Amino acid sequence: MIPLRFTESIKPIADVDVSGKTILLRIDVNSSVKDGKLLHSPKIAEHFKTIKKLLDSGAKLIVLSHQGRKGREDFIDLRQHKEKLQEMLGDEIKFCSWNEDIEQAVKSLGDGKALMLDNTRFLEFEAIDKSPAEHANEPLIKKLASLADYYVLDALSVAHRSHATVVGFIPLLPSFAGPVLMSELRALERIREMKDNSVLILGGMKPEDSLFVMKKMLAERRVSKVLLGGALGELAIMVKGAKLGAKERFLEEKGLLKFLPGLKEIMERFKEQIIFPADLAVRRNGLREEISLAELPVEDMIFDIGEITVNTYENIIRKADVIIYNGPVGKFESYQFAFGTRKMFEALAEARGFTLIGGGDTVTALIRLGFKNSEFGHVSLAGKALLMFLTGAELPALKALAEASS
Ligand code: 3PG
Repeated sequence: MIPLRFTESIKPIADVDVSGKTILLRIDVNSSVKDGKLLHSPKIAEHFKTIKKLLDSGAKLIVLSHQGRKGREDFIDLRQHKEKLQEMLGDEIKFCSWNEDIEQAVKSLGDGKALMLDNTRFLEFEAIDKSPAEHANEPLIKKLASLADYYVLDALSVAHRSHATVVGFIPLLPSFAGPVLMSELRALERIREMKDNSVLILGGMKPEDSLFVMKKMLAERRVSKVLLGGALGELAIMVKGAKLGAKERFLEEKGLLKFLPGLKEIMERFKEQIIFPADLAVRRNGLREEISLAELPVEDMIFDIGEITVNTYENIIRKADVIIYNGPVGKFESYQFAFGTRKMFEALAEARGFTLIGGGDTVTALIRLGFKNSEFGHVSLAGKALLMFLTGAELPALKALAEASS
C-alpha cells in the first residue's frame, strides 16, 4: 500500500492567488547531454507549462533546477535550458549564475517575469543529504527565501533527494506542489495496491538506482516478476557465470561491475522471479546480429536484448495486472538497437493491465520511437523517485511538504 494520500495532504499552488507574488519554483530539467549539447527533453516541455501558467497568473518566478552530476559529461550550466524555455515562452527569461547579484536581479523582476538561476549542483552544499531544517540554515537558502513569498516544488523526480533546493525552503516559506507534481501524485495514488501479478521491467544504465528497488519490491511482494534489460540484464548474465567480452570491459570502465555481488544476492534469493535476457543483439560489421548466450564472450558490442527474450517478456506482460517500465532495454537511440525497447512499448500499449512508464530516458525513448502518452496508463517524468514511491518508501520532499501543510 502507498502509505499516505499526498494529494489530500499537500497543498497545490493552483489554489493560491499568485499575482504579484515572488515564487521560488524548483523544477527538474535535468536531461541528457551529448558533446556539451542539451538534448530534447520531455521534462523541459512539462515544466514549461507550469512556468507559463504561473507567469500568466502574474507571478514573479525564480526558477531552480539541477543538471547532471559532478564529474560527469552532463554536469553543465543551465543556459541552454533557459534558452529553450525562453524560446517556448516567447518572452525573455533572465539568467544569473551563482556569483552574480541575484538579489538585484530578483528585485528588478516585473509581474509575469522569470529569472532562472544556474545549476543548483554547482553549489557545494546542494547535493548533501540533510534534513529540511539543516538545509534551511544555509545562508544562501535563507537569503533566497527572504526574496520570495512562496516555494513551489514541481517535480516528483527529485522528491527522493533531501537536497538543499528541494527541501531547504520548506521550513522557511509557505510551500506548495506545482501542477506537474500534483498530476503525478494523482495518477500514482490510483495504483493503491501492487498486486501479486505485477511486473517490473528494469533497463537503463543506472543499476545503482535499481537494485534496492528491485529487492524491496520483490521482498514485499509488490511485484511478482522483474524483467531485466540494459546494463542490469548484462550484469545478470555475468552473475550466471558468462563472460561478455567487449561489453564487459565497457561496464568495467563505467564502474558498473561493482554491482555484481548485490545483484547475485538478489538473484539467488528470488530465483524464480527475476528473468534476464536469454539472447542478445550485437553490432557486427555495422549491422544488428542476434546471438545466443552460448556464443559469449564476443568482441562485438552488445546493444540490445534479442528476439527470444522479447517474446518471453511480451508473454509475461500480456498476463500482468500492473506493468511498470523503467529504463530502456537497449540502445534505443540507434534504429537497429531500438528493437527491444520498441517491442516493450508495443506490448505495454496492448496490455490489458495498468501500465506505468517512468524515468527521463524511458520517456525520451517513448517519444523518439513515436508512441504517445495516451497509449499508457501513466507516463511519469520520475525514475528512481517513482520506484521508491511505489515501494512505499518515504520521499523526504513529499514528507516535508505534507508536514508543512498540516
Ligand atoms: C533524475 O533524472 O532522475 C532526476 O533529475 C534526479 O537526478 P539525480 O539522480 O542525479 O539526483
